[in-house]
Amino acid sequence: MTTTPATILLIGASRGLGLGLAEEYLARGWQVVATARDPVRATRLAALAEAHPGRLRIEALDVMAPGDAAALAERLAGTHADVLFVVAGRSGFSDAPIHQVPQDGAALEFLTNSYAPPVVAEALLPVLKSQAPIVLMTSILGSIANNAGGMELYRASKAALNMLGSSFALRHPDRAVLLMHPGWVRTEMGGSSAPLDIATSVRGMADVIAARGADRGVAYLDYTGATIPW
Ligand SMILES: NC(=O)c1ccc[n+]([C@@H]2O[C@H](COP(=O)([O-])OP(=O)(O)OC[C@H]3O[C@@H](n4cnc5c(N)ncnc54)[C@H](OP(=O)(O)O)[C@@H]3O)[C@@H](O)[C@H]2O)c1
Repeated sequence: MTTTPATILLIGASRGLGLGLAEEYLARGWQVVATARDPVRATRLAALAEAHPGRLRIEALDVMAPGDAAALAERLAGTHADVLFVVAGRSGFSDAPIHQVPQDGAALEFLTNSYAPPVVAEALLPVLKSQAPIVLMTSILGSIANNAGGMELYRASKAALNMLGSSFALRHPDRAVLLMHPGWVRTEMGGSSAPLDIATSVRGMADVIAARGADRGVAYLDYTGATIPW
């Protein structure tokens, strides 16, 4: 008897944690649909696809481009993915208190980190199984309870994502909505002093999704499965 492999849809996989998640799920035997803003420049993702013929499909998607996610859903018509993970995010103005951040910079970060993930998730619902979990990449820095100062814009954008993820979960009560903190990881965003490597973080997140993906409602978790206070 043959079984169909499970499929994950990864939004924002050109590099960093998204690319690492693609590698991890391929190693687990899954089919992967991975998006990049500019697939031509996503050379490491292309190399991964070449190393796994027929198992990694690369699609173009900019989370800031209205209509991109709906167009992707049309191209994927007939797909019934088991997990959606919106990974894409940005971080700028790390040392600036909010009054020193220019309005256009703040708008770009809020739209990318807070507004886009639930909007993209909503557009991709038609290509997900009815109870497939939605995973949104947040950060422990979005926890108001844990606020230690600094990175004001980024913290606020991830706190807003947590709220919008929670609202999304209320509208879709039959699914798990996992707001996932990957740990502090050595990527372009995390920097070289971060304690975690990508492989450890993505292995942990995939294990958490396997353990919690069939739940219902919202959870704010880190890559070890620990609950983070809102
Ligand atoms: N690294 C950490 O320690 C850490 C900790 C907590 C949370 N996070 C979160 O984890 C996620 C991934 O971060 P990372 O560390 O892997 O950062 P990264 O190496 O800087 O990668 C960021 C990814 O987001 C994509 N992206 C940015 N804007 C996009 C847009 N408009 N449309 C589509 N894709 C877009 C980038 O694509 P391009 O290649 O096209 O730019 C890239 O693939 C982010 O949401 C981040 O906030 C990271």
